[in-house]
Amino acid sequence: MRHSIDTDVFRQTAHSPSFFELSRRMGDGARDLVDFCIPCNPYFPTPEMFAELADNLEAVLKFYPSDSSRIAGQLSSVLGFNPATIAMSNGSTELITWLDHLWVRESIAVPIPTFGRWTDQPMETGKRVDMFLLQESEGFGLDVDTYIKFIRSRGSRVAVLCNPNNPDGGYLPRREVIRFMDELSDLDLVVIDESFIDFVEIERSPSVAAEASIRPNVLVLKSLGKNFGLHGVRFGYCVANPALARKMAAALPKWNLNSLAEAVVFMFQEHAESYAASLVKLSMDRYRMSMELGRVPDLEVFPSQANFLLVKLPNEVSGGEMRDHLLNKHQVFVRECSNKLGLSGQFLRLVVRPEADVERLVSGMRSYFKSPWEVERPTLVS
Ligand SMILES: Cc1ncc(COP(=O)(O)O)c(C=O)c1O
Repeated sequence: MRHSIDTDVFRQTAHSPSFFELSRRMGDGARDLVDFCIPCNPYFPTPEMFAELADNLEAVLKFYPSDSSRIAGQLSSVLGFNPATIAMSNGSTELITWLDHLWVRESIAVPIPTFGRWTDQPMETGKRVDMFLLQESEGFGLDVDTYIKFIRSRGSRVAVLCNPNNPDGGYLPRREVIRFMDELSDLDLVVIDESFIDFVEIERSPSVAAEASIRPNVLVLKSLGKNFGLHGVRFGYCVANPALARKMAAALPKWNLNSLAEAVVFMFQEHAESYAASLVKLSMDRYRMSMELGRVPDLEVFPSQANFLLVKLPNEVSGGEMRDHLLNKHQVFVRECSNKLGLSGQFLRLVVRPEADVERLVSGMRSYFKSPWEVERPTLVS
């Protein structure tokens, strides 16, 4: 079935429209929608966990959650961190907001393209954002020495590094991240955003969280929405030395975590094996999906260690038109990147999904490429 959607919805913010907004606009069409836009683990929570959560829904909605330090204590015991080194937040975006207020006094260095809040948040509060452009010709890879030189030349006082990076999924080996932190021990703060680190398979223990907790000026930030497959819950955390973690925790609003976040954190230990299995499945899907996309003529696929793949469309193809075609004709929702600093509308970010969904995506893309003159162009209501 074909559906038309008012594409104005894609021009309203620097981020993608929410699934709810899109569903309201698509009406019945939303039932078949396959989401390649929001990077979410499709294999976790398991159906059994969702059933358990549904059984508890009334209590979850009726009662206040515990204090966030109690929930963070449970998370740290499950993940094996010292509880004094953790602060939990309502999504990792809340941490980005607060670390800007607390530590970014005048300037922050950010490699671009990356997650938009890293540039938008400090700009909204009047800080100077020193943008370090990752080069397409180098596959958007980050060279630590060149980035450090840039930070020194600009005199940036805070530096950010996303590993793996969003939207390309590029990964920097752990030893390089440690070298980066050590070289910048004089800065006000070094932030390593590990929101997608659980999806990395190339190294066995890629996180630098334990290293951060014994350094004077490093904060590692993690989202739980992406890897736990629960963006709507809004939870994340940071790991740093106890003084930094305490400063962050003290700034966060009281009861910033809701009872659903508490329920999930307390369920996690029992389901850790299913979680590990979900990551293995996802990395197999990533491999398969990058092979499938690699077979589409003239499509460039960038290597990724995250749960999404960045692709570049051929020169004459507009990402916006491709997105509208996929949405209207195939009920496939993709992220077109024209509103990402450092990228253009020739790029799409595609979330890693199971094989059947990828088949639908690839056949939709092929139908667009094959005969743009024969295939009816998307009917846009704009
Ligand atoms: C690199 C990165 N960091 C942080 C976030 C924020 O995640 P959340 O607030 O949902 O935990 C995102 C969201 O896409 C992201 O891509």
